[in-house]
Amino acid sequence: MVVISLGGSIVNGERVDIDYILKFREFMEKCEQKLYVVVGGGETARRYISYARALGMDEYSLDEIGIIVTRLNAKLLVDKSTSPEIPVNVKDAMIAGKLYKNVVMGGTAPGHTTDGVSLLLAEKLGETKVINMTFVGGIYTKDPRKYGDAELISHMDYDEAKRLISGRRMGAGLNVPVDLLAIKIAERSNIKIYIIGKEIENLEQVIKNEDYKGTVIGKFDS
Ligand code: UTP
Repeated sequence: MVVISLGGSIVNGERVDIDYILKFREFMEKCEQKLYVVVGGGETARRYISYARALGMDEYSLDEIGIIVTRLNAKLLVDKSTSPEIPVNVKDAMIAGKLYKNVVMGGTAPGHTTDGVSLLLAEKLGETKVINMTFVGGIYTKDPRKYGDAELISHMDYDEAKRLISGRRMGAGLNVPVDLLAIKIAERSNIKIYIIGKEIENLEQVIKNEDYKGTVIGKFDS
């Protein structure tokens, strides 16, 4: 079993990436492991959240809007190998996993992101790793989109990751490498979070425990 958090901006950036979705469906069908894929909201979620915020809606409702969009994106990944319905919580995902080769889902409840969902799911399944596919592809010393000399950090321990994230404001539609709840769940159950980019070959390397490009958050002896 493999739990993947597929960043919304990979499938739904400026527009929905049809070619990528087709490739990802093919990968899911061919992969020998059972996959649980939790899909993010991407640009559409951010746009809808900003409309709702402009209308004066409360943060809980903004999160609910985000969740609807994550499920909408997840629906685009539904294929022959996956459950036809999108599970709405971790328990439903477990049941779907018993009935179908793969499961795709979006968010579950307000207050966290799909990263949090993927960690809760891994915890419930007894998995020791989660693969988090993001647009940036890892944690860097500086924003690699702005600075050419930004360096990829290959290993980061839970405390360092928490320090990095807790400096950021919390709010619906906020874009951070992994959310704080995800790191806390990972730490309490000793689950490693592999943050990688969108390349499917790289994803396959992480699944096979081969060399890959990205950052792993975990417990490391210093
Ligand atoms: P995402 O998981 O896509 O969050 O959920 P993100 O980190 O902002 O964006 P990506 O990974 O770059 O796409 C989008 C929004 O939906 C709500 C939150 O407001 C989140 O910011 N959400 C999602 C929830 O409230 N609960 C969930 O379980 C999932």
